[in-house]
Parts: sequence; C-alpha cells; structure tokens
Amino acid sequence: MTVELVDWGRLVTKAIEARNNAYAPYSGFSVGAALWTQDGEVVTGCNVENVSFPCGQCAEANAAGAMVSANRHSTIHAVAVAAVSRHFVWPCGRCRQILAEFADGDTPVMAVAGDQRSAPLSLVELLPHAFATLG
Ligand code: THU
Repeated sequence: MTVELVDWGRLVTKAIEARNNAYAPYSGFSVGAALWTQDGEVVTGCNVENVSFPCGQCAEANAAGAMVSANRHSTIHAVAVAAVSRHFVWPCGRCRQILAEFADGDTPVMAVAGDQRSAPLSLVELLPHAFATLG
C-alpha cells in the first residue's frame, strides 16, 4: 500500500475514537491506534492501564491483538497513532516490534497530536534492523 492510497481521514478518525476510549487513569495520557488491514478494514485499540503499572498495555499492542482475534492478521497496510499531546507521539520500541510482525518496512505510520497530523514515517524508519528470525 503506497502512502497516497491510504484513506488517512478514516484511519485518523478511528484512532481518535479509540483514543477517546483509553483507560489511562494513572498517566492521564490517552492513546488510540488504528490499523488498516489487508481487507480494507480498520481495527483499533487504546491503552489500558493497571494499578500494577507494568501490567498496562499500549494502544498499538491492543490493536494488534484485536486484529489477530478478528482473524484479520495477514498484513497491516497503514497505522495511525493518536495521543492527547502537544507533540507527535510515535509508537514505543516494543510496539514497533509488534507492528513489524504484521507489517512491511514501507508500511506508513502517522502520528496524531490532538487533531494535528504528522507526515507519515515508514516502519523501517521507526525500526531499522528489526529483530527477525525468518528470511
Ligand atoms: N502508550 C501507548 O499506548 N503507546 C505507545 O506507543 C507509547 C505509550 C501508553 C502507555 C501508557 O498507558 C501511556 O501511554 C503513558 O506511557
């Protein structure tokens, strides 16, 4: 999927909707992620925190889990990550590796701060030399 063919409006709207569902009482930092899957569907996730802080899950990880649960895990074609922040927030290192499991290096990732959109970066820009045992 090339960057030009991605319906960013739809993907960003879904990421913001997911962000609004975030459970982030400890950090106050709400994040939503939207994944555009190979079949043209959008799967979302939000961060879900826990009183035992390390048990919290990131939005991107939860979106990937929802995607697999829905049996839509062939390939991620585009990603939008929306945070309540004045700055663009890019997926954390762990989430970059999780996305890399289901996406190509050229998969575009867009950050959304409030309602401001970044220019997309490719996954390989975010995670060069990803760990892999295959290939
Ligand atoms: N968070 C995400 O959901 N995605 C990221 O890529 C980075 C951080 C969440 C985890 C935690 O609930 C909150 O943001 C503050 O770190």
